[in-house]
Amino acid sequence: MKFYKVITYGCQMNVHESEKLAGMLEELGYKSTDDDKKANIIVFNTCCVRENAEQRALGNIGALKPLKKRRKDLIIAVGGCMMQQNGKAAMLKDRYPFVDVIFGTHNLSMFKEYVEKRLQTGKSLIKIVDDDGKIIENVPKARTSYPNAWVNIMYGCNNFCTYCIVPYVRGREKSREPEEILKEVESLVKQGYKEITLLGQNVDSYGKTLKTPCDFADLIEKIAKIDGKFRIRFMSNHPKDINEKLIRVMMSSDKICKSIHLPIQAGSDRILDLMNRRYTQEKYLEEVKMIRSFYPDFAITTDIMIGFPTETEEDFLETLKVVNEIRYDGAFTFVYSKRSGTKAAEMDGQVPEEVKKDRIIRLVDRQNEINREKSLKYVNEVVEVLCEDYDSKKGIYQGRDDRGRMIYFTSEKDLIGEFVNVKITKTGGITLHGEII
Ligand code: 5AD
Ligand code: SF4
Repeated sequence: MKFYKVITYGCQMNVHESEKLAGMLEELGYKSTDDDKKANIIVFNTCCVRENAEQRALGNIGALKPLKKRRKDLIIAVGGCMMQQNGKAAMLKDRYPFVDVIFGTHNLSMFKEYVEKRLQTGKSLIKIVDDDGKIIENVPKARTSYPNAWVNIMYGCNNFCTYCIVPYVRGREKSREPEEILKEVESLVKQGYKEITLLGQNVDSYGKTLKTPCDFADLIEKIAKIDGKFRIRFMSNHPKDINEKLIRVMMSSDKICKSIHLPIQAGSDRILDLMNRRYTQEKYLEEVKMIRSFYPDFAITTDIMIGFPTETEEDFLETLKVVNEIRYDGAFTFVYSKRSGTKAAEMDGQVPEEVKKDRIIRLVDRQNEINREKSLKYVNEVVEVLCEDYDSKKGIYQGRDDRGRMIYFTSEKDLIGEFVNVKITKTGGITLHGEII
């Protein structure tokens, strides 16, 4: 028996790409393991969006040196967007000569062949290609998050927000043909998956590269017509592109979750402009008002970054103001991280570490408070929950409602993958607990 372990850094896009790497390894006869010592191949799927993910990956790759010394047959492979950055693959090989296979994001679908080649020749290989412009369909996937399944609808990004490395490492935006996406979702629903999350860096610009026009609202309308009981989610939207047509379609089907991830990044118009986000605070607040005019309970989540170059206390207070006004249902909060090659990395006025630390603490505290206040209001609500997981230590099931709230409950029988009605009975700070009714 041969075993593999895939270690993932970064976002859902990477989590799903790791499912593709695992799928290719399973085609080669490998089985999954969590144990480094048992693994015949260890794959690092890296991320370069923030510096700490890069540092963690490098640290963990370095830590394998003694194991590799003892076990020459162990294959170590490193892929992902960090390898796609200028000079990074060469740097890796130089620092860690024991790495066997190095590949990037554009040639991920070739991974199986690279492993075969390494096995046949015994020689290490570095394969990095620039954007090849094509979408490769039918890459095998070893999915790991039943009853949820991720589906890419597009790759790359054209926005060039000035802090962001993604457009440099993932190339230009390309959309998958709607027929391919529909085929994949249909097959997932037939296999019993209950929640489909569509992935794209900016789903609102889906379809621009297609021959036959189909925008994002058209696409989810088509997906919602697929038979069966399942939920549709997606991420991320972009405040500069989101429109009423999409919200109308979202309201037209119970399958589409009433939940939207709308990254604001910052509240100050001056910072938004420097970030090249192409919207103002006023426009963003109008979008939220438009969304809530269709359904006041629409869940709105966001990404927020503090410490962008030149951010002043006044700018930061604008971010807090928006957080207070919108009362997000959840926020991913980030400290700005300088990424070489981006425009922001060249800007004067980098914010001192202690100022960033103070701001992120204040932001997280405020959002936690909002989460707690909102949680209290949910007590006694009855919601439909998709049961996702079981914690055997605590003897407790967990799942999410349509708005993405995680709810914990107990049950005598195995409910993973089933929809159940749960009455929320209490909150434990941010967490929600309920009883099946
Ligand atoms: N520093 C910190 N956070 C970043 N993000 C993207 N680039 C950076 C960076 N250089 C955050 C943004 C984005 C999320 C996926 O990651 O908030 O929405
Ligand atoms: Fe990066 Fe902006 Fe594209 Fe998102 S929209 S991936 S933040 S460049």
